[in-house]
Amino acid sequence: MDSFPQLAWLIAAICFIISLGGLSKHETARRGNLFGIVGMALAIIAAFFAGIPGGYTLLILALVVGSIGGAFLATRVEMTAMPQLVAILHSFVGLAAVLVGLSVYCSDWHFDETLNGWVGPDMIHMIEIFIGVFIGGLTFTGSVIAWGKLDGKIKSKPLMIPGRHLLNLLMLLVCIGLGGWFLNTSTGVGIWPLILMLIIAFVFGAHLVMAIGGADMPVVVSMLNSYSGWAAAATGFMLSNDLLIITGALVGSSGAILSYIMCHAMNRSFVSVILGGFGTDSSAPVARVDDGVVKTHTSTTSAEVAQMLKDAKEVIVIPGYGMAVAQAQHPIREITEVLQKNGTRTRFGIHPVAGRLPGHMNVLLAEARLPYDLVLEMDEINDDFPATDVVLVVGANDIVNPGALDDPSSPIYGMPVLEAWKASQVVVFKRSMGSGYSGVDNPLFYNENTDMLFGDAKKSADEILQELRQ
Ligand code: TAP
Repeated sequence: MDSFPQLAWLIAAICFIISLGGLSKHETARRGNLFGIVGMALAIIAAFFAGIPGGYTLLILALVVGSIGGAFLATRVEMTAMPQLVAILHSFVGLAAVLVGLSVYCSDWHFDETLNGWVGPDMIHMIEIFIGVFIGGLTFTGSVIAWGKLDGKIKSKPLMIPGRHLLNLLMLLVCIGLGGWFLNTSTGVGIWPLILMLIIAFVFGAHLVMAIGGADMPVVVSMLNSYSGWAAAATGFMLSNDLLIITGALVGSSGAILSYIMCHAMNRSFVSVILGGFGTDSSAPVARVDDGVVKTHTSTTSAEVAQMLKDAKEVIVIPGYGMAVAQAQHPIREITEVLQKNGTRTRFGIHPVAGRLPGHMNVLLAEARLPYDLVLEMDEINDDFPATDVVLVVGANDIVNPGALDDPSSPIYGMPVLEAWKASQVVVFKRSMGSGYSGVDNPLFYNENTDMLFGDAKKSADEILQELRQ
């Protein structure tokens, strides 16, 4: 029976690997999720057989509180609040690594009567504890700040303290120095450098994420995802638990790969994201001044848009965060069905950072049961805009901002975007002329071939659907 937990954890680890593989494609995502659930259930069952230091009462209590809390959050959370939820869950992983590190360190030190002296963790274990607490500490506060920024509780504008890079370097060097002190302690007095380092790691994590803002937030989310994985792996080393090491390494490396993909999608280097300072405050401009010329927007009605769609042969829909807020994916799918029946080719262009989560739009469109073959990545569809009659920009803003390509003064300059303005006609569904997540004004709204369709995206899509069906 002793080997059962090890075997079960090995099978659970395999389930998690298959799960990750499954989650990489629409068609297999459901199966991937199922493997994840099976793996997690196996891991929890095996924990009951592994011999729990705190006894079963504690384990059952933790299980009940965790399950009720998880079920409550999962049923209550809005799809648009998922990024915040993910960020706060990352903070729990960080906090767990910190608490495990502190408790392992304290419980490992004991007075050995035969040696007549204090005996503590060996050098390797001390290194694991120090690194685990450091990563856990910065993941904890970094994730709490990311949660605040994504939830709008903290301004998304980057905090630019003068000499901030020097400050970060200094904090890192002090932590390394404290590590040297920690490893050279021969009694439980090492708790002091450990706690001092933890305080600095808390400040370090918070400062790192405070300095990142606006359109760089997607990278922060995936980066913290990666950190939380490494924090879990560190916990696995501290507890000598292979499953935690494997799972942590999987999450850590997949988060790192995702961060790389996000940086690539936004044409940003990972280092420049970490160093921060991208994005501005939100504003709600109503007119734009270009070379002294005041440009204004034109607006349209649902009936006019329905007519444009009836006349069109090629349509591209660009969904963004506003579609998630409005939950407009269902009427948009129905509009697509009507158009397809009328012989109008209708496809969807997905920007890698559309919405607030990696794959946010894909999830919404899959939920609305839109056929996967109509959904194309930015690189697959960007060349098709010049031959497109109508582009529907549904609650998207930053991801269709031409300034990202042609305005070097724009804070999002260099980020590849969906080149909607190259189509014959563009219709933007949104409620106002306000800016998107990065707080940057969007010149697309003032183009001659752009019409604004003001209002909630779901309401507008419902009205267009009605017109199309008449
Ligand atoms: P945004 O640039 O944030 O624009 C969304 C637009 O939706 C807003 O301008 C808003 O305008 C409109 N909107 C909101 N509610 C609406 C409603 N009910 N009906 C109609 N429109 C509504 O979104 P995007 O274009 O998807 O770009 C994503 C941005 O988020 C990027 O800057 C990206 O870097 C950032 N970000 C992404 C992620 C990930 S991983 N995807 C994570 C964090 C941050 P009104 O208020 O005028 O309606």
